[in-house]
Amino acid sequence: MRARWDSRLIFLFVAIGSAVGLGNLWRFPYLTYKFGGGAFLIPYLIALLVIGIPLMILEFAIGQKMQKGAIGSFGTIGKRFAPIGFLAIIAGFGVVAYYCVVMGWSVIYLIGSFFSPLPWEANTQQYFFNNVLQITDGPSAMGSIGVALVIALALVWISIYFCVFKGVKSIGKVILISMPLPFILLLVLFFRAITLDGAVEGITYYLKPNFSLFLSTDLWMAALTQVFFSLSLGFGIMIAYASFNSKSQSITRNAVTVCLADTALSLLAGFVVFGVLGHMALVQNVPIDKVVESGPSLAFVVFPEALSLLPLAGLFSFIFFLTLFFLGLDSAFSLVEAVTTVVRDTWKKIAVGTVAFIVSAVGFLSGLIFTTGAGLYFLDIIDHFLNSYVLILVGILQCIVIGWVYGAKKLRMYINSVSSSRIGVWWDYCIKWVVPITLSLLLLIQLYRDIQTPYESYPQSALAIGWAVVIIPIAIAAVWGLSQKSKSSA
Ligand code: PHE
Repeated sequence: MRARWDSRLIFLFVAIGSAVGLGNLWRFPYLTYKFGGGAFLIPYLIALLVIGIPLMILEFAIGQKMQKGAIGSFGTIGKRFAPIGFLAIIAGFGVVAYYCVVMGWSVIYLIGSFFSPLPWEANTQQYFFNNVLQITDGPSAMGSIGVALVIALALVWISIYFCVFKGVKSIGKVILISMPLPFILLLVLFFRAITLDGAVEGITYYLKPNFSLFLSTDLWMAALTQVFFSLSLGFGIMIAYASFNSKSQSITRNAVTVCLADTALSLLAGFVVFGVLGHMALVQNVPIDKVVESGPSLAFVVFPEALSLLPLAGLFSFIFFLTLFFLGLDSAFSLVEAVTTVVRDTWKKIAVGTVAFIVSAVGFLSGLIFTTGAGLYFLDIIDHFLNSYVLILVGILQCIVIGWVYGAKKLRMYINSVSSSRIGVWWDYCIKWVVPITLSLLLLIQLYRDIQTPYESYPQSALAIGWAVVIIPIAIAAVWGLSQKSKSSA
C-alpha cells in the first residue's frame, strides 16, 4: 500500500513549502524592480496563468493518476518516456546540491546574529566574500574548502535527513512548522520594513510601473524562468508529492492555491526587501539603485548591512536568516523526496530511511565542491545551465508526451472527474501548443546567446562543466529512451 498524506491540507502545505523558497525572496523582488516594477507583474501573471498553472495541474494529475514518482509515471505512459523523469530527477539533484550550500551560508549568519557586534557589521562585502566564501579570483583557482561552510552544510543535510527519514510520515509533521513559519516571520519583517523611514520611497521604487522594457525578450524570459523555478516545476517534485494522494483527490483547486500562495509570498518579500533598502538608501544618503542587487549579494551582503543599521539589529538579522533557512528547508527536502520516491518505486524492499540516508549523504558530498573558494562560480554556472536547459527541456517533453502521446483530453477528463472546479479545452491548447512552443523558443534563444557570448564571461574551461551537466544527462536519457520499445501500459 502506497504511503498517504494525512490530509488534503498537509498535501497543500508540502506543495506550497516546496514552491516557496529562496527564489521568492532574493530573485523575485529583484527581477520585478529590474524589469519595470509594476509592469513586470503583467508578464509574470500571464506566464503564471498560461504556463505555471497548467503545468502545475499537469504534474499533480500525472503523479496522482499514475501513483508513482516522475520516472515511474512517465514509464507507465510508455517505457521510452521514463527518461523524462530521470532528467527531472538529475536536474533536481543538481539544484539541491547547491541550494543546501546557500542554506549553509544562512546557518553561518544565523549563528553570527548572536554576536555583538555582528561579525559582518564592519564590512558586509568583505565578510561574505572573504570570510564566509574565501572566494578566489575565478573558477580556475579552486582555493580551499571552507571548514565552517562544510560544518554548516553538514548541519543542513542532517536537518534534511531528519525531515525525510520516514518519508511522507515525517515530512507531514515537519511541514506544519516549516511551511507557515517563514510566512509568519516574513510578516514580522514586513511590519518592521514598512514602518521604517524611507520605506515608502523604496517600495514606490519597486512597484513604479515602467513600460519601457515591456516588449524586451529579456523581460519575458525572466518572467517565464521565474515562474518555472519558483513553482518547483520540472523537477519531478510535484509529481512525487501528488503520487501520495488518493486517486480521487481534487486537483485544480490545489494547483491554483499553490500558485497563488507562491506569488503572494513573492510579493510580500518584495515589500520587505524594498522597504528595508529604501531605509538604507535614506540613512546612507545614496540612491536606491546603488544598493539593489540580486542573488547572493542581496541576501548576504546588502540586506545584512541594511539590517545592521536598525535598532535590535541582531534580532532582525536572526529573524531574516531563520526565514531564509526555513524557506529553503522544505524546498530542499522536496527535492530529496522526489529522488527517494523514484528509487523506492523501483526497489520497494529498501527502507525509506536507508534511501533517505544515501540520498542525503550523496547530496552532502556533491555539495562540497560549492564550499571551495571557487564555489560561488560553480554555483552560478550550474544554476544557469540546469535551469536554462535541463529544466526547460523537461517542461517541453512533459507537455509533448501528455499532450500528444497520452492525450491532453484524456488527462483532462480524469482531472475533471475528480476536481470540484473543472477545466476547459483551453488547458489542452496550453499543454499541446502554448507551453511547448513558448518554452522551446526560450530554450533556443538561450542557446543562441550562450553560444554567442560565454555566460558571465567565464573561461571556456569552467563553462565546460555547465555544458557537461546539460549534455551528459540528456545523452543518457536519449540513449535510454531510444533503446526501449514503445509499449504503453497506461
Ligand atoms: N521553488 C524554489 C524557490 O523558489 C526553488 C526550488 C526549485 C526548490 C526546485 C526546490 C526545487 O526557491
